[in-house]
Amino acid sequence: MKVENLSIGFSQYFRGTQKRVIQPIANLHVEIEEGEIVAVVGASGSGKSLLAHAILGILPTNAICSGSMMYRGEELTKKRKEELRGREISFIPQSVNYLDPLMPVGKQVQIGLAKQRAQERQNRLFAHYGLKESDGRLYPHELSGGMLRRVLFATSVREGVKLVIADEPTPGIHPQALAEILKQLQQFAREGAGVMLITHDIMSALAIADRVAVIKDGQTIELSPVSAFSGTGEQLQTDYARELWRALPQNDFACQELRWEA
Ligand SMILES: Nc1ncnc2c1ncn2[C@@H]1O[C@H](COP(=O)(O)OP(=O)(O)OP(=O)(O)O)[C@@H](O)[C@H]1O
Ligand SMILES: [Mg+2]
Repeated sequence: MKVENLSIGFSQYFRGTQKRVIQPIANLHVEIEEGEIVAVVGASGSGKSLLAHAILGILPTNAICSGSMMYRGEELTKKRKEELRGREISFIPQSVNYLDPLMPVGKQVQIGLAKQRAQERQNRLFAHYGLKESDGRLYPHELSGGMLRRVLFATSVREGVKLVIADEPTPGIHPQALAEILKQLQQFAREGAGVMLITHDIMSALAIADRVAVIKDGQTIELSPVSAFSGTGEQLQTDYARELWRALPQNDFACQELRWEA
């Protein structure tokens, strides 16, 4: 998957009738090879979710999007995005609101699974993510935030997935479940899928990613191998990435002014 020169703007009305365009993403690029995990990190509001939504073709209708998106050597058109979404391209959204509030969560995990094996497959996925079989009959509002995250994750595990886009899949999750999720992302990659892991959790990103894309104000300012995040960060290209690296606990929070909201 290759995204180049991506720009996203929104046309908005203000003061009743006047129209203006805001441009949260300009000139963003990112690239994910088969079997590779690319972590996308950046401050809140830097454009990470918009990037994910642009690839999936689920931007709001007032979004104006330009740039090039190539998937497996061919242009990723609107039609192709629709065909691939939820099949070859799987999405773990940032918000649990993506779940249908009126459908039991077990049924939601079964969407897209072969009918004869759907129940058995759901049970296995639930067991895998530490959910009880009876949880499947509950509606989203009856589950805790952490349980909903695990349900979202279970909906992304499909045979034949070639690209996984995980938008902040780990907040509020028990350490054991976190390890499970990171392991699952690695498993996707081992099976040949490309994985885009959007996260504020740089430690997790560095633990499993091959490359890290740093997004700032809607632009990619760095796309470096994980190995560059070492020592004093001398192999990193930007001061911003270096500060991110040096602000980590094992580096003595060298830049305390940089705060990452969960
Ligand atoms: N529908 C929209 N209309 C107008 N502006 C939007 C819309 N969606 C997002 N934006 C703006 O685009 C910018 C990037 O938003 P985005 O959700 O991609 O951030 P993010 O990097 O995912 O942040 P976080 O880490 O908090 O999830 C923000 O300034 C946001 O206000
Ligand atoms: Mg986001």
